[in-house]
Amino acid sequence: MNKSLRKAVIAGNWKMNKTPAETTALINEIKPLVADADCDVVCCVPYVDLFAALEAAKGSNIKIGAENCHWAKSGAFTGEVSAEMLKACGVDIVITGHSERRTYFGDTDVTVHDRTRAALDNGMTVILCVGEYLEQREQNITMEVVSSQVKIALAGVSKEELDRIIIAYEPVWAIGTGKTATADQAEEVCKAIRELIAELYDKEAADKFVVQYGGSMNAKNADELLGKEDVDGGLIGGASLKAPDFAAIVKAASK
Ligand code: PGA
Repeated sequence: MNKSLRKAVIAGNWKMNKTPAETTALINEIKPLVADADCDVVCCVPYVDLFAALEAAKGSNIKIGAENCHWAKSGAFTGEVSAEMLKACGVDIVITGHSERRTYFGDTDVTVHDRTRAALDNGMTVILCVGEYLEQREQNITMEVVSSQVKIALAGVSKEELDRIIIAYEPVWAIGTGKTATADQAEEVCKAIRELIAELYDKEAADKFVVQYGGSMNAKNADELLGKEDVDGGLIGGASLKAPDFAAIVKAASK
């Protein structure tokens, strides 16, 4: 497996933070700091901030993504936003299956599959999140959990469509807790995900497939995590809200 076949992707996940005016200010602050990045740079922002973010990022190397999408085209789903609507707003990237959606908003492996399907059908790129709870790690079933999340989400996804999927391995116990997985723990699961892709598709698909790590990645630990063979980037929560920290992670991924 050859890391040089893949371009790292550093994606910020802003979660429920920032107003449109604050979004403009933060994107403007990040822009010059990441202008010479040798990796893909993405900021996933709340729906109401998308237009401000797209406008501020115009002409830069920052891509703007959303944090979720609904599986239906349209209909009686109060409070939801469809992939088709996002695409129509000029958004090409979306996160699906984030553990906060699974834990607090009832997302299941099946709805994550459906949301992923809708995004692909609308020509979008998906950052598909998977990861185990602490209890599951302690029971030594991390890979069983992660494998079934991946298999269900990717059911019916063709090899060509796989080019528009990124998997973010995010151990739930490491998200927002300051408790990062060790670089070896991150590598172990990211590598296993790549092997699973090889099994489900083939080695060529696996070699170019981007697997991110997420969970308390920051300016200090990014170098070590991103130095691992199978860690091709990061999905960054807290540290993506501070321009210098986010830029330091982008720099670590550009080496
Ligand atoms: P964190 O969040 O970096 O704040 O741990 C990561 C994520 O939830 O994607």
